[in-house]
Amino acid sequence: MKEVKIESTLTVYDNFDELPKSVASLMQHAIEARQKSYSPYSKFSVGAALLLDNGEIITGSNQENASYPSGLCAERTAIYYAGAKYPEAKIVKMAIIAGSTIKQTMSPIPPCGACRQAIAEYEIKQETPIEIYFMGEIGKVVKSNSLANILPLVFDKSFL
Ligand code: THU
Repeated sequence: MKEVKIESTLTVYDNFDELPKSVASLMQHAIEARQKSYSPYSKFSVGAALLLDNGEIITGSNQENASYPSGLCAERTAIYYAGAKYPEAKIVKMAIIAGSTIKQTMSPIPPCGACRQAIAEYEIKQETPIEIYFMGEIGKVVKSNSLANILPLVFDKSFL
């Protein structure tokens, strides 16, 4: 028997203003996308923006439903749209902003497990890492150099 240690390394920016210009501009797209969130049930709105290697920016926001499980997170709305519209393009970066619409969210909000699984599929398919940046409404911004870094023990096609 042996123990195996799994580690992830993240970069933490103190605030939005510390971000490199290109990332700040992608996050700005996520901020605008968040305003289009349809989240009357959770009152938690999320925006996501993807930069593709063809220069296109694809955005998404969470879309809820009276039948709760039929709703979709912002990250998957964006990534499936990118996959549907530009199936050959690689995703270079993803910016995510999330927060409650009834109280201020100051901590960075990471993509949920289901979204990580969905993003992992594209990272594996394209064979290059996707940089992920996530934040709350204000405060720190966290960067992961890849999706794999925040989803250890991923379930992928090699198991099928
Ligand atoms: N949500 C996202 O859009 N992304 C995540 O990674 C976590 C959660 C949405 C789903 C739902 O509309 C609301 O936030 C509350 O869970």
